[in-house]
Amino acid sequence: MVYNTLMNFWQRIKAEKGMILALSPMDGVSDYPFRSISKKYGQMDLVFTEFANVEGVCLSKSTQILNHFDFDQAQRPLIAQIFGKTPKYFKQVAVLLCEMGVDGIDINMGCPAPTVSSHGSGAGLIRTPDLAREIIQSVQDGVREWGEGLLLENCPDISSQTITALRDKKKFFALTEADRQKLPTVSVKTRIGIAQDEVENWLPNLTQMNLAAISLHGRTLKQSYSGLSNWEVIAKAAAIVKQNSPNTIFLGNGDVFDYEQAKQKVTDHGVDGVLIGRASFGRPFVFLPQDKRTEFLKAHNLFAIALEHAKLYEETYGQKERYSFLPMRKHLAWYTKGVEQAALIRSELVRSNSAAEVEEILKKHQLI
Ligand SMILES: Cc1cc2nc3c(=O)[nH]c(=O)nc-3n(C[C@H](O)[C@H](O)[C@H](O)COP(=O)(O)O)c2cc1C
Repeated sequence: MVYNTLMNFWQRIKAEKGMILALSPMDGVSDYPFRSISKKYGQMDLVFTEFANVEGVCLSKSTQILNHFDFDQAQRPLIAQIFGKTPKYFKQVAVLLCEMGVDGIDINMGCPAPTVSSHGSGAGLIRTPDLAREIIQSVQDGVREWGEGLLLENCPDISSQTITALRDKKKFFALTEADRQKLPTVSVKTRIGIAQDEVENWLPNLTQMNLAAISLHGRTLKQSYSGLSNWEVIAKAAAIVKQNSPNTIFLGNGDVFDYEQAKQKVTDHGVDGVLIGRASFGRPFVFLPQDKRTEFLKAHNLFAIALEHAKLYEETYGQKERYSFLPMRKHLAWYTKGVEQAALIRSELVRSNSAAEVEEILKKHQLI
């Protein structure tokens, strides 16, 4: 095994395991409880947070947005994803994430949602490569300057409320005291182009930035989630990244359903690993190899896991202002996939308002 202490965690996992399997970032889905349950039962190598807007972190009066970055030791290596279009805010949020002790900072250059991309953020940055590079540089500067002693208090757009909220968080989440020797890695997740494959022109903007990793979803901005992820283009992009920036880890993404498919993509398409998103809904075991998956399904009742998830959701957010159980309901529906009487059980679960109600429904149907 080729292994040395100068490797970052991406390179180390690749060297140790031959490939990297990660939980893809998903807004409105990959919150703290989902990541906890997914990691506990799926044992994937890396988890990404859902994205948070850097303008929001810096300009919003509320500090709720910081909840996106909550994590504990079990979720490490934890990669916090951010999006936006303003370099100076990216830099300051990078400092904040360093303070939180995350392992990696990922910049979203792939979101196709009009609310994001039409303002020039997310996949909209593919249209403005100079700004995209400036943003990467700003995040890298923030990380480096934090390592050299820059304090959050010296960041002009981070409010005192945000600084206080961050200190409070440190009491509740098992963060190690931020160690200025351990700098987070900087990576980018993007798409293959705006309306067509543009990887030959777009990717060199990223590969010249000395990124730790690049993740590529094989669809264009225009495609959003229609059609299929184009793994031929991902393979071409893998070759470009290996040629231009051999130390950068390159992950492919899109329409991969389980461990074996991910492994096949690594073999056939030259990627270092794969991100799995939607296939993991209600199915944390998709990250496990077939033999472990079979063992898992023998040993665990998925509905007991659904209830554990609901309890953790309540524990995590129950005390927060504007708490709602609503976002948990979709997860409950996903856990019913493929079971007998799924429609009936789902119709009851999606009306539940608490973990106690979930427990009652599951007991009534003798599912736990
Ligand atoms: C509900 C939802 C939310 C998403 N939010 C994000 C996000 O916050 N950041 C991001 O980079 N990608 C986001 N994505 C894209 C996924 O990370 C992934 O690239 C895409 O779903 C394709 O992978 P899959 O076929 O494995 O799901 C989101 C996708 C979905 C379905």
